[in-house]
Amino acid sequence: MESQTETTVRRQRRIILFPLPFQGHINPMLQLANLLYSKGFSITILHTNFNKPKTSNYPHFTFRFILDNDPQDQRISNLPSHGMGAFNRLFVFNEHGHNELRHELELLLALEEDEQVSCIITDALWHFSQSVADSLNLPRLVLRTSSLFCFLAYASFPVFDDLGYLNLADQTRLDEQVAGFPVLKVKDIIKLGFKSSKDPIGLMLSNMVKQTKVSSGIIWNSFKELEEPELETVCRDIRAPNFLIPFPKHFTASSSSLLDQDRSFFPWLDHQPPNSVLYVSFGSTTEVNEKDFLEIVHGLVDSKKSFLWVVRPGFVKGSSWIEPLPDGFVGEWGRIVKWAPQQEVLAHEAIGAFWTHNGWNSTLESVCEGVAMILSPFMGDQALNARYMSDVSKVGVYLGNVWERQEIAKAIRRVMVDEDIRENARVLKQKANVSLMKGGSSYESLESLVAYISSFSF
Ligand code: UDX
Repeated sequence: MESQTETTVRRQRRIILFPLPFQGHINPMLQLANLLYSKGFSITILHTNFNKPKTSNYPHFTFRFILDNDPQDQRISNLPSHGMGAFNRLFVFNEHGHNELRHELELLLALEEDEQVSCIITDALWHFSQSVADSLNLPRLVLRTSSLFCFLAYASFPVFDDLGYLNLADQTRLDEQVAGFPVLKVKDIIKLGFKSSKDPIGLMLSNMVKQTKVSSGIIWNSFKELEEPELETVCRDIRAPNFLIPFPKHFTASSSSLLDQDRSFFPWLDHQPPNSVLYVSFGSTTEVNEKDFLEIVHGLVDSKKSFLWVVRPGFVKGSSWIEPLPDGFVGEWGRIVKWAPQQEVLAHEAIGAFWTHNGWNSTLESVCEGVAMILSPFMGDQALNARYMSDVSKVGVYLGNVWERQEIAKAIRRVMVDEDIRENARVLKQKANVSLMKGGSSYESLESLVAYISSFSF
């Protein structure tokens, strides 16, 4: 799967990439960086020290650390490194990062090298970087790490707020259809967890939407056939060119993993029958309380299906790992690990389904490997991704956060045998594969992205 890098190419153009420092954002940005490197560009990655990438896995890139190099800066040094508090960095950097980013870019642009800097590509949530790039006349492209569908919903927040969805007093409206989004119910919007379009998160998302719209181009980790109606809307509403490329089809995210990946279960997995094992993982930031954890445990046992379960340290609130697990629970039924090479697991023929929180990377990795899902979104875009996978793509069983053993066991038994869902998942994978062939939508998108970036003369 890994694309060949062309080490003999004489590189004449450099691209600066600036990911958000969280796993679900680092992975797609470094996949994109690998892809652009394979197309002949030199790569500089700007990054914070917090959650810093394993630079040794990328000897062919240049890394520059910015925004939190000063240990005396108490706006940052006092922030927690784990849990939701860690995300407060986004507010601080977006508010105070302008001068430092500008200074860093000036240095990079002044370097006397054979190569020319073509553009900067930043995570869409670094909305402050648009004015920095503008002030230097440097084209800024945006990487949006979630779906087009999610972007359109975020762009509608002010309308949702006016309609009272974000802070709903009347519980009878939960099943009401969302204005402009027939596939969504008001309860899906509530699940986003945002109380107002004017609170700090609402404002950050609205700035993200605004600055994405005025960027020089938008790169989406997706493909046309997955979100065709949404692409039409985006192209109608936004002048900037759009490029849809399913990164997991080009590179796995293994080399940008912040946690060490356990591979010790592969001999066990290799011995399981095809399509027999449920893979369970809820991403890099989610948490459950001990009671819900035990319901998951019992649901897995009651389903009588084999499983491979990623329980990230810190997933169970108040425990360092799996201390609440009853003795003798796992047995020969399954394996529990702290972190796994997820895409390799999804590609394994023994895997029959994926119980996921629907972070967009996990969702797209599952789609790209043709694996049916159980959909249990926790917060934010996950709720939108899950609804789309269940009601539009029809590749999953919607469970939600129903931490109730019978319901869990029922969902597991269903996803492992529901032939319609499983066939839809296979067809979607096939569409992704076809899109990569010469003349296919993803192939053409990548080619036009490369041509577009090459056309900048700075
Ligand atoms: C976060 C948000 O939760 C998500 O909603 C948003 O779309 C992106 O940022 P995260 O929770 O980390 O993402 O989920 P996800 O987007 O699925 O990314 C997780 C990444 O970690 C995936 O690329 C997955 O392959 C990788 N992973 C996960 C591993 O490498 N090993 C594991 O054991 C589990």
